[in-house]
Amino acid sequence: MTEAKRLAAEKAIEYVEDGMIVGVGTGSTVAYFIDALGRMADRIRGAVSSSEQSTERLRRHGIEVLDLNSTGPLALYVDGADECDPHKRLIKGGGAALTREKIIAEASERFVCIVDPSKCVDVLGRFPLPVEVIPMARSLVARRILERTGGQPVWRMDASERGVVTDNGNAILDVHGLEITDPVALESELNQIPGVVSVGLFARRPADIVIIGSEPPRVL
Ligand code: A5P
Repeated sequence: MTEAKRLAAEKAIEYVEDGMIVGVGTGSTVAYFIDALGRMADRIRGAVSSSEQSTERLRRHGIEVLDLNSTGPLALYVDGADECDPHKRLIKGGGAALTREKIIAEASERFVCIVDPSKCVDVLGRFPLPVEVIPMARSLVARRILERTGGQPVWRMDASERGVVTDNGNAILDVHGLEITDPVALESELNQIPGVVSVGLFARRPADIVIIGSEPPRVL
């Protein structure tokens, strides 16, 4: 799938215009996008980054990383996804960067999502839904999610079996066993649980354009 990711990322470069400040997501597909953006680093004003990981890669390419508070609205945001349905609604957060990704998506006029074909599904939910939570609320939120959705929340661990800590200092619950037939309603409901920072459903603000990596790339 690496070639498919690269093809999607290269196609997304067509949406970047001279002088832009580009919103940049996180993940292995976006890494190809950042590398392609690096080739035109002198033609853009900079980037707003969704993670420490992407910030580091952007800087290595000589791209200035700007604070969203000082840039105002962005014209373009490019990011990957863990799942994408035919309505361009997404599950994101496999890389634990969902909160900053959601903030940048909200701040952007156009959200271009780049995926390989394995990410395309008819109904969201096969990929466990990431939810970022305030650490002290982890068990409470897990109980509420179980009661309200029937899904099985699992506390995400790192390779050393320690709880994953997000760039914002929070924990991640991955909710298994969901079949998300109404993603907008589920996103709104989960957002209401005290202690939830953000939900990896991008349904209220879906992607505007989805590029599926293939030869040639498919654009939805
Ligand atoms: C990061 O938190 C995620 O939202 C990524 O966008 C998503 O996991 C896609 O990652 P890959 O491009 O590595 O598949």
